Amino acid sequence: MDLQQLKKQLSKDLNKASNSKDLQDLKIKYLGKKGRISLLSKDLGKLSQSERPKAGKAINHLKKFFEEQSQILSKEIEQKEINAILETESIDISLPVESEKLGNLHPITKTIDKICQYFISRGYSIEDGPEIESEYFNFDALNIPKDHPARDMHDTFYVDAQMLLRTHTSPVQIRSILKSKAPLKIICPGKVYRSDADQTHTPMFHQIEGLLIDEKVNFGNLKHELTEFLNYFFGKKLKVRFRPSYFPFTEPSAEVDIMDKKGWLEIMGCGMVHPNVLKEAGVDPKKYSGFAFGLGIERMTKLDYQMDDMRLLFENDLRLISQSKNEDFKIALR
Ligand code: PHE
Repeated sequence: MDLQQLKKQLSKDLNKASNSKDLQDLKIKYLGKKGRISLLSKDLGKLSQSERPKAGKAINHLKKFFEEQSQILSKEIEQKEINAILETESIDISLPVESEKLGNLHPITKTIDKICQYFISRGYSIEDGPEIESEYFNFDALNIPKDHPARDMHDTFYVDAQMLLRTHTSPVQIRSILKSKAPLKIICPGKVYRSDADQTHTPMFHQIEGLLIDEKVNFGNLKHELTEFLNYFFGKKLKVRFRPSYFPFTEPSAEVDIMDKKGWLEIMGCGMVHPNVLKEAGVDPKKYSGFAFGLGIERMTKLDYQMDDMRLLFENDLRLISQSKNEDFKIALR
């Protein structure tokens, strides 16, 4: 075989190779066990002593030529292949992404946070009390003796003869005064229970209790505090009305109503802490006076989110929970 011709053929083949597979095939074709160059080396033995060195040299030369050329080509092909991968795998950062689904707080929790934040900024501290409460803290200490008709109004769930599920957050008033004495400024958010269920009542609901005790606290302070709070909560000046009412643990007592689309809506009870309550908790009513209020969280949430039925808040419908407070809210629930 003419080496010159083989070299030509080899160059031609190398020129045609366009990927690493082609190159691999060529390596086998020329340098493999039965490759064209390898066979030539084997045939060397058939040559005469004098011809052998020259022919060997020429074959080695060809071998080296092939190796050098294929190495250069291999680098080119590798680069070409990397470029091709980079091109097809490029990331289009302008493509829209599906947003991550984030968890959400329940509207009740959000309302509690919103209210607590306000009162904390006004210097109140947050208190806590047990949901399984004694009759004493839920009623007696709050100036509601055993035979008092107010007890019947509460539709109480009794646990046993002395213990019950608290019907309001007011027992925390007594617990806080006993703990911290006067002067005092606390709020207490929490669950309360009453055996009651219809479109506007659920057997478990949430209240926030507020209590302020200091020297010379009067009803004007109470009105101012609550009106300011309501303006903050609804983000506008609402029509607010303090309607005379009755609670055994406040005197005088009032119900706070706000003007809704459908008319006046009752949202909280309040009043000046009854002297009997202060005395029971060991505070001198001649030196100190105070006001207290109890606010229904579900009502506030319902108004804030413009919901029709409060029971939605208890159905664990994720569509409700994932809505932020806006008009889409109603649409999402259809
Ligand atoms: N505890 C009363 C209720 O549940 C509300 C209230 C609290 C009224 C504090 C006056 C003062 O209805």
